[in-house]
Amino acid sequence: MPDLAEPITLQPHLRRNGAATQLFVDGRPMLLTAGEVDNSSGTSRAWMAPIWEKCAQAKLNTVLAAVPWDLLEPEEGQFDFDVIDGLLEDARAHDMRLIPLWFGAWKNGLSHYCPLWVKADQRRFPRTLTRFGNLEMLSTHSTEAREADARAFAALMRRIREKDGGIHTIPMIQLENEVGLNGDVRDRHPDAEKAYNSQVPRQLVDYLVANEDNLLPETLEFWASRKREGTWADLFGDDDSAGAVFMAWSYADFLEEVAAAGRAEYPIPVFANAALAPFPGTNRVHGPHARGGPRANVMDIWRAAAPSIEMLSPDIYRPDYEATLQEFNRLDNPLFVPEARPEHEGAANAFYTFGIGGIGYSPFGVENRIADHANGPMTQAYRLIRQISDVILQHQSAGTITAARVHPDQTEQQLDFGGYHWRIARVHHWRTPKIPMRDWGYCMIMQTGPDEFLVAGTGIQIEFSKPGEERTVVGLGSVDEVDFRFGRWERRRRLSGDEIMHSYSHEELNADNQTGTMVKFWEPEPLVMRVKLYAYQK
Ligand code: DGJ
Repeated sequence: MPDLAEPITLQPHLRRNGAATQLFVDGRPMLLTAGEVDNSSGTSRAWMAPIWEKCAQAKLNTVLAAVPWDLLEPEEGQFDFDVIDGLLEDARAHDMRLIPLWFGAWKNGLSHYCPLWVKADQRRFPRTLTRFGNLEMLSTHSTEAREADARAFAALMRRIREKDGGIHTIPMIQLENEVGLNGDVRDRHPDAEKAYNSQVPRQLVDYLVANEDNLLPETLEFWASRKREGTWADLFGDDDSAGAVFMAWSYADFLEEVAAAGRAEYPIPVFANAALAPFPGTNRVHGPHARGGPRANVMDIWRAAAPSIEMLSPDIYRPDYEATLQEFNRLDNPLFVPEARPEHEGAANAFYTFGIGGIGYSPFGVENRIADHANGPMTQAYRLIRQISDVILQHQSAGTITAARVHPDQTEQQLDFGGYHWRIARVHHWRTPKIPMRDWGYCMIMQTGPDEFLVAGTGIQIEFSKPGEERTVVGLGSVDEVDFRFGRWERRRRLSGDEIMHSYSHEELNADNQTGTMVKFWEPEPLVMRVKLYAYQK
C-alpha cells in the first residue's frame, strides 16, 4: 500500500495517510456514505430507477450492487456487459459512486450465481462434499472453477477499465460474497482430502515464520505446534482447528487467483466480505458457520494467501458492533463495512466507523429497510457526515478523532481523549417534548486544540473530568452549535443557561468534582458543537 511520500495517482487506491489508511479517488481521500441494494435489484435498470432516487434522497454517495456471473457470461466465453454498463450509467446520472459486488463462484457460501454451464457440469466443476453429501457449492479445489471465475472477473475488470478508467465512478470492487463453508469442518471432496493430507504450502509457512512476532493471538493458537513442516494436522492440530486454517487457506488461495487476474486488467482495490458468527462473543469460535471466510480469526491466513485482496470487510448485523469492528482493525486492515443495519443503529454505526478511521459504511437493503429516505436517521447522519467529511478525513489522518455509541445495552460510555475524561450517556430528554425519545445516541469527537474539540452527534450528554487529578474540576469554557460553511466553522448558537445546566446541587456536585453543567445534544437531529474546556482547583 503506498504512503504519502509516493506520487498521488488519480486512479482509486488505498493509501496510508498519517494515522489512517484512506481511500483516494481522483487524488483526494474520500469517505463512502454507502448503501447496498437487495441482491437482485441491480439486474434491472427499470427496477433500479426508483431505487436510485431513494438512494440519492438518503444522501448515499455510493451504491453497492451485485453483478452476477450467470448474466455476465451466460455461455462460456460469451460476455454480456449490460448489467455493469447500466449500473455505471445510472450511478453517474445520480452523481454517485458504484461498488460492484462480483457474485461469482460463491454467494453466501453457495454457488447459485454461477452460469448453468458451470452448475450443470459437476465433472468439470466439482462441488464441495460435506457430511451431508454434495451441496450446491463449488469446491475450492476445483481448478477449472478457479480458472473460469478468474477469466470472468478479468473480463469484468477489463470492461470497467474501458468504461471507467478515466472517470472513477467505481472506487473499488467486492470479490464474491460471504464465502465460507457451512455445516462441516472442511471440504471432503477427494481433491480437497488429498490437499489436506499433503504438506502445508511453503508460502503459508514462510509467512508464519517471517511474521512470528506480529501474528494475531488466534493465529498463534492455531499454530501452537510451531512446526514448520508437515501436513495441516501436523501444524495446526485436530480436525476442527486444522480444518479452519485449511478452509481459510483454500478460499483465500482461490480468491487470490481471481483477484490477481482482475487487477492485472484494472488495479483498483479489491475486498472480500465476511459472514460472521451470528452471536456476540462467538466470533473466535471455529464453529460450523462460514468456515474459511475472511473472518477476524483467520486474517493472517488470508494475508498470507491473498496479497491482492487489500481489505477484509465484516458484514456486521450483531449488536457488539464496536468489538466486532475492532477485531478487524488489526494487521493494518482498512475498515469498510459493506453490510450492516440501517436506521438509528446504522447512524450510530456509521459515526463510530468513521470516528475510528474507517473508509466507509453501508447498510444492507437500503431500498426496503429505510422507512424515511428523505429525512430518516440514516439520512440525517449521512447528510452531516458529508458536510464535514473533509474535516473528518483530516482528523483521521492526524489521529485526533474518536467516537462513541450509546444504546439500551450500554447507556453510558467513558473514555479518555485529549487530556480529559469523557462520560457520555444517553440524553435524558429532548428540548422539544413532543418528539419521543429513542434508544440510540452517538458522537464523533475531534480535537482541534489543547482544550478544544468538535463534537458531532445526537442523543447524548457529556460530563468531563481530569483523569487522575483529585481536586481538579473541569468547566465548560464555551459551547457553540456550529455549521461548516465554505471551509470555515460558523457559530449557529452559543449554548449556555438551560441548554448546558442539569443540576444546581452545588454541595454534592463539588464533592464529586462536577459543575452541574454538561454538553447536551438536546436536538433530535445530529449536529456539531465546538466545545472549549478549562480546569480549576476546587
Ligand atoms: C448477507 C448477504 O451477504 C447478503 O447478500 C444478503 O443475503 C443478506 N445477508 C440478507 O440479509
